[in-house]
Amino acid sequence: MKFHRLQDAGDLSGKTALMRVDFNTPMADGKVSDDTRLRAALASVAALSQQGAKTVLLSHLGRPKGKIRPDMSLKPVASAFSALLGRPVTFAENCGIGPKCAALIASRPDGDVILLENMRFLPGEETNDPDTAKALAKLGDIYVNDAFSAAHRAHASTEGIAHLLPAYAGLALQKELDALERALGSPKRPVMAVVGGAKVSSKITLLKNLVSKVDHLVIGGGMANTFLAAQGHPVGKSLCEHDLLALAREIEAAANAADCAVILPQDLVVAAEFKAHAAHRICGLDEVGAEEMILDAGPKTIAAISQVMGEVQTLIWNGPLGAFELAPFDAATVAAAQAAGRACQSGALIAVAGGGDTVAALNHAGVADQFSFVSTAGGAFLEWMEGKALPGIEALRGSTR
Ligand code: 3PG
Repeated sequence: MKFHRLQDAGDLSGKTALMRVDFNTPMADGKVSDDTRLRAALASVAALSQQGAKTVLLSHLGRPKGKIRPDMSLKPVASAFSALLGRPVTFAENCGIGPKCAALIASRPDGDVILLENMRFLPGEETNDPDTAKALAKLGDIYVNDAFSAAHRAHASTEGIAHLLPAYAGLALQKELDALERALGSPKRPVMAVVGGAKVSSKITLLKNLVSKVDHLVIGGGMANTFLAAQGHPVGKSLCEHDLLALAREIEAAANAADCAVILPQDLVVAAEFKAHAAHRICGLDEVGAEEMILDAGPKTIAAISQVMGEVQTLIWNGPLGAFELAPFDAATVAAAQAAGRACQSGALIAVAGGGDTVAALNHAGVADQFSFVSTAGGAFLEWMEGKALPGIEALRGSTR
């Protein structure tokens, strides 16, 4: 994928770089409870500081909708980032993006790091207001986007500003895009996609896009029940979108037409209760009782998935295969994730995963660090897998003025 990279920015000494990061991190008791996204920004900040540039970090936190919400202030994030960086981070409190903010930035020495308050406190951020983008752009000399997970938003600090300054992809963003390109842009074939999760309705565009791009498509989790019901199998009290059976058949037909082999559960783990360690049994596709729920795929399915995983060269994974948060209904997710992890470690497979519950599922299986790349992006990863253009990335293609 062609875009301008931070390494192409030339001499940055004495310059101010406005860098969009995604510090929208989970918080507990006013503190950062997961610093993964903070860590992701360290490489670009170090590169900018080494070059003698001042780095002004722009981020959002939560969804304050253009209002100042003290509970969504980035102040605690500045302390957490400073601790990771091992040096002070100036937090630009109560100074907006006007002259007061410009004066604060000007007062800091070259190489310093400044974090501005939550961009979404600005009424013009989410509306991508041109004046807001202009006021932001006035604060720096170049723009760097290092926030893949916010790149699906066309906001003033993710998109508008990129047209007003020389704009570059930061190091974390580059790593993410390069990994995604390897997985779905120009992958080594055969390619397998694993799509799980609760509902077909949240992944219609994704499934339709994947059938024409991958050779094997595993459909798991609650959404597989809709496909099984569409084939006439009983699903008892399982999660199932009965109004989407025709759509499920349409997706299967599109897969057949595109030579994409759909892998649905071949056997099931069912229980009468949705709770950890509920009494359960393994059964065939036509043996689900009227009072039972499908909570996981069975051993035959795991064997089939693992076998194909051993034959493909590229894997892209989004969503768990069962109710992985409830033992023992995590078995299919854990076994398939571990098979993928092993294949990656042996060098036989490139595996990229991301989105919502996926990172939690892979962490639970203990294999997140064995995958070639695990994206922490939620909506952006899904939109990218759906084949949509991400405004924050598109805006980096043309601009190095
Ligand atoms: C995310 O956590 O997925 C990003 O930070 C985007 O957040 P948003 O969905 O509130 O735009």
